[in-house]
Amino acid sequence: MRTWICSFSFVIVVFYTSSSMALVPYVENPLPALSKLHNSSAQFRFADRDLRLAQDWKQLGVAAVVWDAAVVMCVYLELGKVELRGKEAIELGAGTGLVGIVAALLGAKVTITDRQPALDFLSANVNVNVPADLQGSVVVSELSWGEGLERYPAGGFDLVLGADIVYLEDTFVPLLRTLEHLCSDSTVLLLACKIRYKRDTDFLSMLRRRFTVEEVYYDKHRDIHVYKSQKVTPARDL
Ligand SMILES: C[S@@+](CC[C@H](N)C(=O)[O-])C[C@H]1O[C@@H](n2cnc3c(N)ncnc32)[C@H](O)[C@@H]1O
Ligand SMILES: *[C@@H]1O[C@H](CO)[C@@H](O)[C@H](O)[C@H]1NC(C)=O
Repeated sequence: MRTWICSFSFVIVVFYTSSSMALVPYVENPLPALSKLHNSSAQFRFADRDLRLAQDWKQLGVAAVVWDAAVVMCVYLELGKVELRGKEAIELGAGTGLVGIVAALLGAKVTITDRQPALDFLSANVNVNVPADLQGSVVVSELSWGEGLERYPAGGFDLVLGADIVYLEDTFVPLLRTLEHLCSDSTVLLLACKIRYKRDTDFLSMLRRRFTVEEVYYDKHRDIHVYKSQKVTPARDL
């Protein structure tokens, strides 16, 4: 958990200081671009509802703040280009759960997942933001990429969602294995991505070996891409 938080803080230091050429360690006094991550809550309006997500950057790090990719994914889901009503969805690396919550508000049955240390915070956010009559459509559950996949039905989801989950090179292979497990050829996979480094595009190349990958939305202001993917069935030799 320590290394997991620290490695991402490091990423942010490099990312945000490289433009100013100053080696300012990112600790207490964040640059304005980061201050919204330090706020103890973040508010949004999606699916005709006001949502308020608790955040806790200091204690819990990356999993306890709402990233722009999640917001852009919700904007995309609200456009209605992908059917959610009555669909079985799973969110990976959900963090605060904004995407899964919005998918549930838009009519999907959602399994909202992350690593074990993130789950209490995630559950609390889900409970507060999902109205009582929809609580039956959401389940929060542990899914550490590549581990214990047999607990999830192979190809059992109509929709797989991930916002800002492509960022740790060590996780690329287990993440791909997870996507392969969860998706059938009819599953729609949506990834909202910030492309920070070359390795992030390497992930997309790896994904293209087994999935089609099409950019379906781009938020210029936040610089977030939404990719829609579907598993390619290997051609059978006749
Ligand atoms: C940058 S945050 C994005 C959180 C949220 N999806 C959002 O966009 O606001 C990355 C998320 O991936 C999760 N994560 C990182 N490595 C993981 C792994 N090996 N298995 C499952 N989740 C992981 C983290 O816990 C964190 O919640
Ligand atoms: C913190 O977020 C709330 C919304 O959740 C907002 O009203 C408030 O202005 C923010 N505070 C700062 C210092 O940005």
